[in-house]
Amino acid sequence: MPESKPQNCTITLDGQNYEFPVIVGTEGEKAIDISKLRDTTGYVTLDVGYKNTGATKSKITFLDGELGILRHRGYSIEDLAEKANFLEVAYLLLKGELPNKEEFESFDADIRHHTLVNEDLQNIFKTFPTGSHPMGQLIAMISSLSAYYPKALDPNRSQEAKNRTTLRLLAKMPTICAMIYKKSLGHPVVYPSNNLDYVSNFLTMTFKHVSDHEYQPDPVVVDAMNKLLILHADHEQNCSASTVRLVGSSQANLYATTAAGIAALWGPLHGGANQEVLEMLNAIKADGGNVQKWVDKAKDKNDSFRLMGFGHRVYKNFDPRAKIIKKACDDVLNKLGINDPVLEIAKKLEEAALTDPYFIERKLYPNVDFYSGIIYRSIGFPTEMFTALFALGRLPGWIAQWQEMIGEGQPIGRPRQIYTGQTPRSFVNRGDRS
Ligand code: CMC
Repeated sequence: MPESKPQNCTITLDGQNYEFPVIVGTEGEKAIDISKLRDTTGYVTLDVGYKNTGATKSKITFLDGELGILRHRGYSIEDLAEKANFLEVAYLLLKGELPNKEEFESFDADIRHHTLVNEDLQNIFKTFPTGSHPMGQLIAMISSLSAYYPKALDPNRSQEAKNRTTLRLLAKMPTICAMIYKKSLGHPVVYPSNNLDYVSNFLTMTFKHVSDHEYQPDPVVVDAMNKLLILHADHEQNCSASTVRLVGSSQANLYATTAAGIAALWGPLHGGANQEVLEMLNAIKADGGNVQKWVDKAKDKNDSFRLMGFGHRVYKNFDPRAKIIKKACDDVLNKLGINDPVLEIAKKLEEAALTDPYFIERKLYPNVDFYSGIIYRSIGFPTEMFTALFALGRLPGWIAQWQEMIGEGQPIGRPRQIYTGQTPRSFVNRGDRS
């Protein structure tokens, strides 16, 4: 790796010059290290929504929003989606290298060993009303694992304990997601079959009926699901990963920290967009399929409606994940022989938005969530499960971000603010207030 020459940045405040180091990443991105700014000058920086703030250095994921590049540990997302399976990518994110044959077999076997969840966990479902959103249930279920594994409450106990918690989370997440789906139907849960690979096991727990001895997940679906999970596996310092780092920085346990990440993901501006995209496409279809009317609605500043699945905080050219997923979407629908009218609406919407100056000027392109829902739907998942599937994919990324943060002993996250409220004033007794 080329050694970068140390640089400084001079900031002039109140007529005085201050020097701050410039940090250069391995891909050449530059940052001004202002961690001593307040101590030396009394100033803080203000950056609402962290649009311009590097909250950490990280070795996990590189992303260039202008060029549409996404790499995990140096490997392109295109190669990973094409050539790896989800567990290999999870291993890569967590350990920094792709596993060799023995390492993969051992990791896979360890995960298979932990797929069962405590039977008592099923009691939690009894407390949820019918129709509860899967994400609300997932947050509760993942958080409740901390009650079953109290030794994990101390995140710094030992490397071995951290590894075990990581394996448990990775292994139990598909079981819990499938349980949530089964419970939503009122069906008995299907227990894990540890002779199956990670994705086939998840699909079997989700779609097999307990009495069905014939169920075999379709290899086309297994492949598509692997790709979808890989494309969601990490995305550097996004809203949920930053939440995981922030919550984890207080030394909260990994189960609670992951539950916080899931909560952040649920929002429609983040992972919740995949559900919203499908609901939007269904609404356009039910409304007669007039795509232009909805594009106009999205452009109208007096209307809060946004085209879900369009735009991204960092990708301002194209989302590389969307490119891969668009092709996977076509492949799956072709191979499964599905002719989905919603896909036609999606294509028209994409075309209208990509040629409209409003979207071109603002660099609003279809993102990963625009196509993922169409694949999930063709596989048979109800829209309400979509964001839980995103969480299943993102889990190794969250854990990798947490491990890196804990491993480096990063301090508790605690931003500053600029107070804009009332200055000191005298208390007035209740009876004397106007
Ligand atoms: N439809 C219509 N207008 C939009 C949209 C949209 N989807 N997204 C952004 N804009 C407009 C926005 O109104 C603003 O216009 P103006 O400059 O005239 O005020 C301009 O584009 C910039 O938007 P912004 O809100 O400042 O951009 P942001 O970087 O803060 O937000 C975003 C990024 C993803 C939250 C936003 O594009 C959005 O709400 N998209 C729809 C939700 C969505 O698909 N989210 C999934 C993101 S990908 C999955 C993930 O990684 O989480």
